[in-house]
Amino acid sequence: MTVRLPETQRIPPRRTRYIRDERDPNAFLVQRSVFVDDAVLAREREAIFNRCWIYVGHESEIPNPNDFVARTVAGRPVLFTRDKEGHVHVLYNACTHRGAEVCRERRGNTRRFRCFYHSWSFSTDGRLVAMPDEEGYPEGFDREAHRLRGPARVESYRGFCFMNVHADAEPLDEYLAGAKYYLDLTADQSATGMVVTPGAHEYSIKANWKLLVENSFDGYHAIPVHKTYLDVQRARGDEIAGNTSTDWKQSHAYDLGNGHAVTVKEAPWGRPIARWKPSMGADTKPIIEESYRRLVEVHGEERAAEIANLDFNMHIFPNLVVNNIMAVIIRTFYPLTPGLLHVNAWSLAPPEESPAARRVRNESFLSFLGPAGLATPDDNEALESCHRGYASDPGEGWSDVSRGMDFPEPRNWDELQMRTFWRRWSDLVEGMVEY
Ligand code: FES
Ligand SMILES: [Fe+2]
Repeated sequence: MTVRLPETQRIPPRRTRYIRDERDPNAFLVQRSVFVDDAVLAREREAIFNRCWIYVGHESEIPNPNDFVARTVAGRPVLFTRDKEGHVHVLYNACTHRGAEVCRERRGNTRRFRCFYHSWSFSTDGRLVAMPDEEGYPEGFDREAHRLRGPARVESYRGFCFMNVHADAEPLDEYLAGAKYYLDLTADQSATGMVVTPGAHEYSIKANWKLLVENSFDGYHAIPVHKTYLDVQRARGDEIAGNTSTDWKQSHAYDLGNGHAVTVKEAPWGRPIARWKPSMGADTKPIIEESYRRLVEVHGEERAAEIANLDFNMHIFPNLVVNNIMAVIIRTFYPLTPGLLHVNAWSLAPPEESPAARRVRNESFLSFLGPAGLATPDDNEALESCHRGYASDPGEGWSDVSRGMDFPEPRNWDELQMRTFWRRWSDLVEGMVEY
């Protein structure tokens, strides 16, 4: 049997400008200026968002040749396209003539993007295919040199597409490290491939982006902050005690490598994939049970039980969250300023699921996870409250992130997952400079 050592015995201490990872006594502290300082954000853009693999979209969003989605990824307007041969591309949505956005629609299907400024036209793989009065250009003008630009690297894992502006980045497969196991657990919920359902959530929070990283897998806040949601589920018939240590079963937190981390548990709510609870309605019971039988047929008893019962909240460094809870959500976010972040979130579902299960899933996407639901507004208020609090003492105040740091097996409501993020953040932003 492997004996797991606590972090405090595996990981060397560090004492940098922003992070104190101390021993004797053990403590993990984060300097609060990291949340409010413009210079820190500038450094994050350079050392994190321009170095790491950044989530762009799910390939199911562009199922057909010439489908496209236009969105902003880590501050860059891009086109996520499938060309006429079926290959996926990420192109910068900026005309190579004088820079206008070549696409002004949010999504659609087109053979060409025609820039509205002077009508240069580009194919869905980025080639410059037409322009008015080409004869006006000097001899030797090269259309090929004027194709739409894009990030140096674009790679996908099980439908999750990422970009990296840094040509020498390690392959996505290596970068994802232990996160792949959990992406597999999500992808394996469908025999034909999970799909992003129509619609998305988009909202802003007046807080620093790293607060949303912490919140997205912070089990410690669930009982106090989400009392309303848990009370509603209890009123609908679910067994919820409102007690962290009894409501969450099999609770663990794992460092997945490269700054990624996950919390796993069996939560007290139902899951439309294959775990029925009374709040889902009696009519859905046989349907959810049938869905479980299908999983057993495809994956066997053990894997099916894991797919059905393992709730997890995973953060893939730096700004992707996959929450596999009462619905499956993909959430990505980006800081506009140190005190303002923008969030995009999508729901992921098996296309073969019944309308009744889809109704339960959509309900959860709205009622727990939506920006106007019973939970996310409470989270957002907590983040904004922290951010307001930082103004009182930004240079001297430190946040305490030390829960469970001397446990061999920290739980979902400890803070190993946040420390995993902060250590990686410090490696990249501070380059392990000792103070
Ligand atoms: S800027 Fe696009 S054609 Fe001129
Ligand atoms: Fe929350």
